[in-house]
This record gives sequence, C-alpha cells and structure tokens, in this order.
Amino acid sequence: MPNKYLLLISIIISIGFYQNIHLTWYGNAPDRISALGYQAEIHKITTQDGYILEAHRIPQTKKNRPVVLLVHGVFSSSDTFLLNGVENALGFQASNEGYDVWLLNLRGNRYSNHHVNLSTISMEFWAFTFHEMAVYDLPATIDYIMKVTGQQNIHYIGHSQATNIYFALLSEKPEYNKFLKTGHLLASGLSQEDSVIDRVYLGNITLPFINFFDYGSFGMHFYFAPLNYVLWVISQTPAIGAVFSKAIGIFGGSSITLNMTILPDILATMPTGSSARNVIHLSQGCRNFRQFDFGLEEENIKRYGSKVPRFYDFGNIDVPTYIHNGGQDNIVSLACVNSISKKLRKGVLKKVIIHDEFSHIDFVASVESKKRINDFIFEVIQNYEMGGKL
Ligand SMILES: *[C@@H]1O[C@H](CO)[C@@H](O)[C@H](O)[C@H]1NC(C)=O
Ligand SMILES: *[C@@H]1O[C@H](CO)[C@@H](O)[C@H](O)[C@H]1NC(C)=O
Ligand SMILES: *[C@@H]1O[C@H](CO)[C@@H](O)[C@H](O)[C@H]1NC(C)=O
Repeated sequence: MPNKYLLLISIIISIGFYQNIHLTWYGNAPDRISALGYQAEIHKITTQDGYILEAHRIPQTKKNRPVVLLVHGVFSSSDTFLLNGVENALGFQASNEGYDVWLLNLRGNRYSNHHVNLSTISMEFWAFTFHEMAVYDLPATIDYIMKVTGQQNIHYIGHSQATNIYFALLSEKPEYNKFLKTGHLLASGLSQEDSVIDRVYLGNITLPFINFFDYGSFGMHFYFAPLNYVLWVISQTPAIGAVFSKAIGIFGGSSITLNMTILPDILATMPTGSSARNVIHLSQGCRNFRQFDFGLEEENIKRYGSKVPRFYDFGNIDVPTYIHNGGQDNIVSLACVNSISKKLRKGVLKKVIIHDEFSHIDFVASVESKKRINDFIFEVIQNYEMGGKL
C-alpha cells in the first residue's frame, strides 16, 4: 500500500519541523468541537443506496431549537465550518445563536467512506457525483434529522458544491421543498463558466480517464490522509505557510482577509476524498446543469434513455434562497449566478449579494466571515423564526 510509505515520509518530515508546531492537532471535528467547550455528537446515517454518512452535531441544552444544516464543498468536510474559531466559524456561531447545529459529511470524504456492501477499494464505491449526494445523501440526512429532533423543517447553509446539491435535490425531489425553511448558498458552486476549472475543461473527458485515478477516487482518499498531517506541520513555518496561501489563491482566488492562523488547519483537513466522476460532473458547468454526462452517447442512452441527460428543473424549486458570491472567486463566476437567477421562479431568489473582496475560501476562512456573511444569514433565519418578512 502506498499509504505506508507516505506515512513514513510524513513522520520523517514532521520530525524535521517539530520545533515549529504551535497549534493543537485535532484528529477530527468532534474532538475540535469538544476541545473548544461545546458538546459534540456523532450520528451515522445510512443512505438508500448503502453509503454510511457521518454527521456531526452541536446540540443545544434547550430542547426543540430550530435546526441549521451546514453542508460542505468538494474535497472538504464538516471541519470547514469549524476552523475559523468560536466567534467567526459558521458552525460555532450557529451554536452561539442558539440553533441545533448539524454538520453533514457527504459520501467519499474523510468521515463518510463506508458502505454497507462496498469497499473503498472498488470502482463501484467511487461511481458517484453530486447527483447522488443530492438524491440520496441529503434526503437521508434531512429525514434522519427530522426523526431525531422532531422538527418539521430545517434551515440549509451550504458552501460551493453544496449549491449544486441543493438545487439538484429540490429539482429532482420537489417533495423536499417543504422541509427547508431557508437556503443560504455561499460561493455558489455550479457557476463554472470562465472559471479556472472551465478553462481546464474536464467536461468531456470520458470514463477510461476517470478510472486512471485509484478506483475513480481522484487519489485524495488514498493519498492525502497522511500528507494532510505533513502539510499541517510544515505550513506552521510562516514562509511555507505563505507559499501555500499563494497556491490556494491560484485555485480559489487570492484572499486578502484569510485568517492565516487557520491555514495549517485548512491543509490538515482538506483536500479530503471525493470521486473523479464528481469533479468532472462539477466541471460540466452551469449551462449544462443536469445529471452526469458520460460524454458517450451509448452510455447516456443506457443510463438515461437519451443521448444527453435531461436538465434539472429549476421550476420545481420553492425555498427562499440567498446567494453570496465573491468578486475574487476564481472557481465560480458571476455570469453563472445571473443565469441561475433567471431560471428560478419569481420570488424564490430573495437576494444575491456579491462580496467584492471575497475569494472562494473566504466564506469559511476569512477574519471577516462573521461581520460580512454569518451575521446576515442569522438575521434572515431569526426573522423567519419570528414569523417576520423575508
Ligand atoms: C447489499 O448486499 C445485499 C446482499 O447481496 C443486498 O441484498 C443489498 O441490496 C445490498 N445493499 C445495497 C444498498 O447495495
Ligand atoms: C483566526 O482563527 C483563530 C483560530 O480559530 C481564532 O482564534 C482567531 O480569533 C481568528 N482571528 C480573527 C482575527 O478572527
Ligand atoms: C471537448 O469539448 C470541446 C467543446 O465542445 C471540444 O472542442 C473538444 O474537442 C472536446 N474534447 C474531446 C476530447 O472530446
């Protein structure tokens, strides 16, 4: 197993940098939550197609508090909503505001890599895209939360790819509209035109290429776990941290408000697993926002009964929705936000807010996240809960 060698290399590099370590290592999100003085719960949710998801919860001492569900982006996990500290991170702020906080981990990431029948060392395990997250992971999670909490409906906050699965869920399973009270989409991830990803154009690279990466896992699941620790250690050296922050900037847009203290923790928790097929589906863009296009007519006909998959039907979406995007975001583009707005029924999209200085990662890692994003979100949610006008 290559993992063994990577682990060895990791240990050697880590020893070399040991004297620089000034942060506390948290092995996982629940440990971080508890260490910072909050209660943490771990919930296992099995989807209809057999994936076992791990959700993290920060419950309230008071019963029957409204639920806020936080959904992460691609190659990311529940950690993404916790790294920015107890004041600034969405997960902790939601708890400070009195909500029952649920942090989902979508199939394939570091917490959700089990299946009732399939092993991660199989092509079948990794044969998913955000479509399956939308039609299996989200419904299973929403059903589960409603059962455990007795709540009838919840608030949804999502970063990046969580936009795709929000729209895909509400289009494909319109009965779920009534379970969501409000939707808040940060760095809305289906906007790919003119973006870095679109320029690389993975859109019609077909299956043999996908399978080139380990079982279609894009390598992250198998290789990054030990490397994450090395990255965490070495990026605590300021000069190396600066290099990584530049590298993140190339993909997600350069950030002027990134909380540099948490950079090592970002590298410790992402990238985490997803599938190559998912990355390709994401790259198929917002003009082509529909089920995964295999790029091969025979394959599409076999799966969908048509040469190309049908489009998601935005006309089915009926949840008051707020979009926050960043002017510095290299991954998603504003052109697509405009095209989304036109597809939604009148009155569904409540507000599109463009934060000129924000990059892709700033929504979860900026020193200004609370002031610029989170406070707005919780004001909307609070208004909704008080029966006010949205
Ligand atoms: C798991 O395997 C069992 C036995 O083959 C089968 O009955 C079941 O449908 C499988 N479950 C899933 C979710 O694939
Ligand atoms: C940056 O993140 C750290 C660690 O979460 C947090 O303690 C600190 O308050 C944050 N800094 C600012 C300026 O928000
Ligand atoms: C992918 O699609 C683009 C645009 O439709 C086209 O120009 C290109 O030739 C295609 N590439 C492959 C490998 O099919």
